[in-house]
Amino acid sequence: MMTQRLALVTGGAGGIGTAICRQLAADGRRIVSTCVDPEAENIEAWVEALRSDGIEADWVQCDVSDHDACVRMAETVQERFGTVDILVNVAGITSDGFLHKMSADSWQKVIDINLSGVFNVTHQFVAGMRQQGFGRVVNISSVNGQSGQFGQTNYSAAKAGMHGFTMALAKEGAPKGVTANTVSPGYVKTSMTDAMPDKVREAIVSQIPAGDMGRPEDIARAVSFLTADEASYINGANLPVNGALFCSF
Ligand code: CAA
Repeated sequence: MMTQRLALVTGGAGGIGTAICRQLAADGRRIVSTCVDPEAENIEAWVEALRSDGIEADWVQCDVSDHDACVRMAETVQERFGTVDILVNVAGITSDGFLHKMSADSWQKVIDINLSGVFNVTHQFVAGMRQQGFGRVVNISSVNGQSGQFGQTNYSAAKAGMHGFTMALAKEGAPKGVTANTVSPGYVKTSMTDAMPDKVREAIVSQIPAGDMGRPEDIARAVSFLTADEASYINGANLPVNGALFCSF
């Protein structure tokens, strides 16, 4: 019998992250999430909530923007759980503001967490994936990395950068059975979109052909598809999940 694959989800306790953890568990994966602040994220309650639904999930503390912390986190993961087969980079923040009003700190923070975080974490696990001849990396980007968005030069730049990272990694990993893909969510009901000004959110939702925001489960379904063992030939792709808000090929 094949051993259960190990999935590491960064920011797994967030809205989209939780749906991904639940979906991957339903797919038969073992689940470990990273968490930057166990208390603020109420991580033990998160573990309990999953456990009460029959899902065994664990967590490791890690600030994805800190490379040294990621090295230590990877050692802990290897020691406690084994080699990571599936990595889903979800951890991300927004710090919205027009560029002419944006502080350098706001720019740097978003780049450090959303883009450098993907490097810092993936850097730890890709050698192990190559060695075992199997790996799945999925980076959660955004429609706003494809189309740009008012007030998000930092976020749009980071999310667009993830696509370049993913395509390059796909070429490196393909000969070794390692795939790398992005999923680009549109507007999804989470605390991130809750924090938008009501007027702006309503204006955006009115432009979504599907008529409403997406659900975290919509994103999880795409991740499930891309992380399947059978998805070995889907590599370097971007899968938009945006209710037809932005269509491209
Ligand atoms: N489209 C068109 N016009 C817009 C706009 C938009 N998306 N956003 C702002 N504007 C316009 C406003 O209507 C306003 O116009 P008027 O001066 O003519 O009234 C002008 O720009 C200034 O807007 P604000 O008064 O809101 O200016 P502000 O400096 O207080 O805030 C802002 C600007 C930070 C961009 C704010 O509007 C905002 O937070 N917008 C939301 C940005 C956004 O979409 N974030 C997405 C978060 S969710 C996410 O990122 C998840 C994901 O991956 C999809």
